[in-house]
Amino acid sequence: MDSPPLSPDFNPLTFSEDLTPLPELKEAGNAVIDFDGQLPRSLDLREDVRTGCGGQTWPAGMVLGKHLLRYHRKELESAKIVELGAGGGLVSLAVAVGCELQHTMYITDQLEMLELLQHNITLNKVDDRAQGMILNWGEPLPDIIVEQKPDVIIAAECVYFEPAFPLLQQTLKDLFELNSEAVVYFCFKKRRRADMQFLKVAKKKFFVEELFDEDRPVFSRLNLHLFTFRSRESAAAQRAKAEAKAAKVAKTNKQPTPEAVETN
Ligand SMILES: C[S@@+](CC[C@H](N)C(=O)[O-])C[C@H]1O[C@@H](n2cnc3c(N)ncnc32)[C@H](O)[C@@H]1O
Repeated sequence: MDSPPLSPDFNPLTFSEDLTPLPELKEAGNAVIDFDGQLPRSLDLREDVRTGCGGQTWPAGMVLGKHLLRYHRKELESAKIVELGAGGGLVSLAVAVGCELQHTMYITDQLEMLELLQHNITLNKVDDRAQGMILNWGEPLPDIIVEQKPDVIIAAECVYFEPAFPLLQQTLKDLFELNSEAVVYFCFKKRRRADMQFLKVAKKKFFVEELFDEDRPVFSRLNLHLFTFRSRESAAAQRAKAEAKAAKVAKTNKQPTPEAVETN
């Protein structure tokens, strides 16, 4: 089998001419992040892009981390979580620090990012609830993920390299095959026209919904997109359940009230 293409760093030379402003790569150092007061203690994040672009924080990770802490804390506490393309671990570490996790979460990326990821897990003292792991998109899922059957999948800023789009879509499909009820929290910044092609294909394969967020007017202006993906199967089941509930309510409302019966 051919090995999958390695995703490149954010590098001007790897992008086509319709690129919007280039992200700037930072100097190595430590960042302190509290997601606008959403965390009980700030994250310490080692940033170092020497092994890849995931070694620094990106806007979609900031948006997704804050969104998850603000709106989904309770659901995350009991969830079995995996993050894809986690880089230095920003989003997962926010969840690990901000939520009382009941299950070990798996924070995944390519081999090149693993050392930095593990460093940040230890730096933030969440080794007891978070584990770094290699997961290359498009390849068979690691055994431990197959056993875990994640019900929450996190992915931030993973849309930037077209040859990797089908690989990431394959991994999402594999994860839905493990657990059709899983939900994917997905955030990315559109930098090129081609990035929307990812979404177009995702909408054919999965059930895609925009997420409410009070910051949406702000991040939309920055071309940041925040969605959930679900399997079509689970979306259809949810719809059927909602319709049955609505039909039951409508039927109940049609019943004559005792007073109405008496006056007739
Ligand atoms: C722009 S970074 C985003 C990092 C982090 N999620 C954030 O929001 O700060 C994209 C990440 O996707 C990872 N990635 C790219 N191609 C991948 C592949 N084929 N398999 C697994 N991870 C991949 C990169 O290594 C990188 O860490």
